[in-house]
Amino acid sequence: MENYRDEILRVENIVAGYGNMPIVRDISFNLKKGEILGIVGESGCGKSTLIKAVSRINGLNTDILGGKIFFEGQDLTKISNEDKRRLLGNDISMIFQNPEASLNHSRKIGIQFTETIRSHRDMSKEEIRCRIGEIFESIGLTDVDRILNSYPFELSGGMAQRVAIALAMVLKPKLILADEPTSALDTTIQKQVIDELLALREKFNTTMVVITHNIGVVSKLANYTGVMYGGRLVEYGETEKVLKEPIHPYTKALLGAVPKLGGELPVGLAGRPPKFHELKDGCAFCKRCAYAKEECECFDNKVTQVESNHRVICLREA
Ligand SMILES: Nc1ncnc2c1ncn2[C@@H]1O[C@H](COP(=O)(O)OP(=O)(O)OP(=O)(O)O)[C@@H](O)[C@H]1O
Ligand code: SF4
Ligand SMILES: [Mg+2]
Repeated sequence: MENYRDEILRVENIVAGYGNMPIVRDISFNLKKGEILGIVGESGCGKSTLIKAVSRINGLNTDILGGKIFFEGQDLTKISNEDKRRLLGNDISMIFQNPEASLNHSRKIGIQFTETIRSHRDMSKEEIRCRIGEIFESIGLTDVDRILNSYPFELSGGMAQRVAIALAMVLKPKLILADEPTSALDTTIQKQVIDELLALREKFNTTMVVITHNIGVVSKLANYTGVMYGGRLVEYGETEKVLKEPIHPYTKALLGAVPKLGGELPVGLAGRPPKFHELKDGCAFCKRCAYAKEECECFDNKVTQVESNHRVICLREA
């Protein structure tokens, strides 16, 4: 288990956005082999912007305005296009909310797998078929030939999403970045996909960052949970701690708003997150916080470490 402790991803004080407008502010975390970080927060808090900034995938790039992102010690903010091509799909993969974003709908699935594998590995047809069979089996996809011979639109949504996950896994990447991988699925398939992601982590020791609206998903999947609000990671820690002993008023409100684990966010949390162009200095949660004081409006958003692996951004703890 020595490998399990190896660091894969280190995000240091990342500021990222679009043009000169910062959305994600001063975000830091690091993950070792086999660790899964779940990121929750309401719509528009900057979750996708963060994952796009980390992925550095062409065409999805947000502008990185500050900070550093290290993948196995290599700074992704300074990486050449050639190194980027080498890493993406091979060492780092992405899964999106809808299979349409991950799969090419005008090409048969078998061809997409072959192209992905051939762009990074010199493998024979037989070896490729064997690799696909192995990945399909590990996530419970049977009927391999029929699937490979189909177009994505010929499969059900749940099946297509599992195929998209298999495609993201086929080169056994070290890091998977998943943006709401289960949100478009019905509850039964959601549970299956989570079990499959966990099985893949078990088998290949894959590190993952998983964005979700669903607290049940993080509680089942993630070692660490990050809660985003107004582009900041307002609470971060071991999932058990964050969900059972939340400290930040926003986390408490989110959890209070969820009737039971497995419920969708947010239910019953009044108001909405601020638009980024409306954000002023101070705590972004001020207008909705039950504990807000005047000083919160000029709070400098400094991070308070409450325990070795648990931190928050809130004046009450500063
Ligand atoms: N391509 C873009 N250009 C400019 N602004 C953008 C772009 N994409 C997102 N934004 C802005 O960034 C902010 C954060 O959006 P983001 O998609 O990161 O949020 P999110 O937390 O993923 O929300 P959701 O849960 O709805 O997916 C939003 O205010 C949005 O308007
Ligand atoms: S800083 Fe103030 S307004 Fe913000 S979450 Fe903490 S108590 Fe609430
Ligand atoms: Mg999003």
